[in-house]
Amino acid sequence: MSATVPSAVGSPLARLEGPLKVTGAAKYAAEYPQDDIAYGWIVPSPVPRGRLIDVITDPTDDAVAVLWHGNAPEIAAADDPELAVLQSERISYRGQPVALVVADTLEAARYAARTLRLEIEAEEHDAVLRIDHPDLYTPEKVNPAFPAESMMGDPDQEVLVDVVYSTPALHNNPMEPHATIARWDGDQLTVFDSNQHPSGIAATLGQVFGVENVRVITEHVGGGFGSKGTARPNAVLAALAAKVTGRPVKVVVTRQQMFSIVGHRTPTVQRIRLGADRDGTMTVIDHQAYSQSSRLLEFAEQTAVSTRHMYAAPNRRTGHHLVRLDMPTPRWMRAPGEAPGMFALECAVDELAAELGMDPIELRIRNEPSAEPESGTPFTSRHYVDCLRQGAERFGWAGRDPRPRQRREGDWWIGTGVAGATYPTMAQPSAARVSALPDGRFEVAIGAADLGTGARTILTQIAADALGVGVDRIAIRIGDSSLPQASVAGGSSGSASWGWAVTGACRALRENGGDQAVFDTTELIEQQEKDGRHAFGAHFAEVRVDAVTGEVRVSRLFGMYTAGRILNPRTARSQFLGGMIMGMGMALHEEGVLDPAFGEWVNNDLAGYHIPAHADVEEIDAAWLDEHDEQINPMGSKGIGEIGIVGSPAAIVNAIWHATGIRVRDLPVRLDKLL
Ligand code: MOS
Repeated sequence: MSATVPSAVGSPLARLEGPLKVTGAAKYAAEYPQDDIAYGWIVPSPVPRGRLIDVITDPTDDAVAVLWHGNAPEIAAADDPELAVLQSERISYRGQPVALVVADTLEAARYAARTLRLEIEAEEHDAVLRIDHPDLYTPEKVNPAFPAESMMGDPDQEVLVDVVYSTPALHNNPMEPHATIARWDGDQLTVFDSNQHPSGIAATLGQVFGVENVRVITEHVGGGFGSKGTARPNAVLAALAAKVTGRPVKVVVTRQQMFSIVGHRTPTVQRIRLGADRDGTMTVIDHQAYSQSSRLLEFAEQTAVSTRHMYAAPNRRTGHHLVRLDMPTPRWMRAPGEAPGMFALECAVDELAAELGMDPIELRIRNEPSAEPESGTPFTSRHYVDCLRQGAERFGWAGRDPRPRQRREGDWWIGTGVAGATYPTMAQPSAARVSALPDGRFEVAIGAADLGTGARTILTQIAADALGVGVDRIAIRIGDSSLPQASVAGGSSGSASWGWAVTGACRALRENGGDQAVFDTTELIEQQEKDGRHAFGAHFAEVRVDAVTGEVRVSRLFGMYTAGRILNPRTARSQFLGGMIMGMGMALHEEGVLDPAFGEWVNNDLAGYHIPAHADVEEIDAAWLDEHDEQINPMGSKGIGEIGIVGSPAAIVNAIWHATGIRVRDLPVRLDKLL
């Protein structure tokens, strides 16, 4: 081990598995050949609420088995009622899996699923979130464990801005849909599954089937955004069908089914009240968020929680209001809570700036808190103001006319906008093992998942530095629950959590010698303060809006971040840009269009549900401050996976106002709202 090896962390190492992926050699969950495999096809409920009385199959079909609650073996629900598939006659949402057809071929399974008849007793349903819904209540906690309400001083005084924003249901559509192959060998269950948390899903399936021996293999994953953070019904259905048929069974979720059974971002309605003195000192911040959950599970999104951390003001209040509807359960989608919450807050701050005739960057800087505004906990590092200032410099903000509807070039109105970004910095307990191999290399093993973000690559870089060797001497193994237990690839916490465990194991091997070392971060992380830890950023957008058609083009989008040490500038940039593009989708394109009569989103495919395409993205860039936060973890890093979608929609919507003078408060900004 030599001390002269240059630092691997901080270098733009390309994804190690890149060549495997572009040559098609990388295996995804549905691509592991199995002898005598059978195919499962999920039968979704055609009604949002009712009872399934019977399933009548076509006698001429070639189904091997048709499983439903009338014949499925009993399983336990673990801690997620949605995993109790085929256990009850109750139908809780349209699209809920009510049967699984198993056949020798995919085509036969699909055919049998389409020809069977469901005898259903339908009941009245309620599918619409409203700010005055009579069943709204305040949940005890919002995700992951925040108080639902907070209050300081007297927020019930006169304010300058009092506005209501709304965001639609948004749907997780990773390129690779959820997929599982399950196989039983005696009471050993092996599962190839596309997910964000092999260790967690192995534990969940163990509880559901009451067995100890579960192995989850998740070598490559084509994205997740949060929808693959926990086991989804496809994993349970595949294992159930494999048990019944005694054969390996593959269940792949179709693109249409993705809209109901894997978890979407809840629609929100948000009321924001902001008060300020004429010099821009904020006096009141009040953020009330309304969202929905299903009958099956209380999923309470933390929409207003970021507002507790952003700006100083003596009188403040946040609150969350939830209603349980006959609709699919919302779940995590990239920056769950922060993305819709900061859309509303950062647009409202822009409205306040206009009301005061102040520059929106100066207004934000004037209200920079010296510590957490509600708890008083010091920030480990913040640098939000530096992001605003340096971002403005790079973007070319100086000299901007604050008045809207001033710049026109041909048919285009031109405008610029800014918005703040933040995301909590988290770490979760994980363990890693490092072993010296006879050929001089080191095997680093941890049950983490790489969603395509570059996790495998940065863990290799972290291990190389911790061992003082080059990256070519690291053999990384991830994506398998039989490896040391790792936390979820979620909450922008993967690199911090796993990198910490890997660093610990490598240091232990160096210090103690021997052939192998294992390091578990559980105790260290349990002792850590949770408050006052966030990444920050500022988003800048330039748009042009066609005066005749209302078409919006985002000419420039720029993100300036402060997110701890950047472990790999190439993969980090890609994460930032991906988040910003998803933010563009949230601002302009994405919308689950609800049909209240059927309790479903009618545009449940990628033809009807629009996401930004290459042609929508013009000039886009990300930059970051050189921040090392040693209080956070041994790498000095924060999370970067989600902050790109926080605030970027608001920057675009604020730019649209600056271009046109029109405040659109309900996303997405479709062209009809600008005419
Ligand atoms: Mo992310 S929504 O925490 O996977």
